[in-house]
Amino acid sequence: MKKLRKFLRAAATLVLLVLAPLSWSAATNDWPMQEFEPDLTNLPSLQNGLQLYANYCLGCHGLQYQRYGRTADDLGIPRELALEKVVFTGQKIGELMTTSMDPVQAMAWFGAAPPDLTLEARLRSPEWIYNYLKTFYVDDERPLGANNKVYPNVGMPNVLMHLQGVQRFDTESEQLVVEPGSGTLSVQEFDQAIYDLTNFLYYVGEPSRLERQRLGIYVLLFLVILGSFTYLLNREYWKDVH
Ligand code: HEC
Repeated sequence: MKKLRKFLRAAATLVLLVLAPLSWSAATNDWPMQEFEPDLTNLPSLQNGLQLYANYCLGCHGLQYQRYGRTADDLGIPRELALEKVVFTGQKIGELMTTSMDPVQAMAWFGAAPPDLTLEARLRSPEWIYNYLKTFYVDDERPLGANNKVYPNVGMPNVLMHLQGVQRFDTESEQLVVEPGSGTLSVQEFDQAIYDLTNFLYYVGEPSRLERQRLGIYVLLFLVILGSFTYLLNREYWKDVH
């Protein structure tokens, strides 16, 4: 009897452990997500992402662990050029990419302070960001007239409307439909822009990733070389024993 109870308890725990994450992911998002494959070797993409970020996001979201200078160096942009093209706050090139948005006022305007995005790609995943940025749509019920499919009832206004055009949710086909306007990007160009922006946020989440991978190869090479010499030395020692 005791054994049976023990067994049942273990089984119930197991079922809960398996089901809990499933129900959580279902509750947080049932929007069909598009895949995202980051590419840190694509410097033009990362440069464009930085430019878009400075123009459309930095006014509200800081990158408080990232410096302008390091970003410019990593992305192959001369520092003077970076200073001219992406530093709009009068800061110096060596400074952190903080925002001048006042969190208290932001709270009053948007109902939520815009969070720092340095680690956002690690918190949410690049795929999440990519889909989030592509699924803003018109919703007159919301205070700022915009809603989001990946983050329902988000406080952020649709700041990408000038690039994308007006996007609506068609309740019949359950699809998002875009009407590009004059001066907006085409659907493909907009996808590319959001790809670059997300790629940039992926880079910011771990700026040393490429360097780490490159170093890793040298470390492995070193181990192989050291290993072969050790093997030869070992053979030399044992030769006289046999
Ligand atoms: C006008 C201010 C404003 C601008 C500009 C803005 N955002 Fe936001 N953003 C917000 C606010 C406010 C929130 C918090 C919304 C909430 O929690 O309901 C937010 C939330 C987010 C989140 C989700 C954060 C989370 O909870 O994990 C991401 C990602 C994000 N913004 C990315 C961007 C990107 C990328 C840009 C540039 C294209 C951008 N935002 C431009 C105000 C802004």
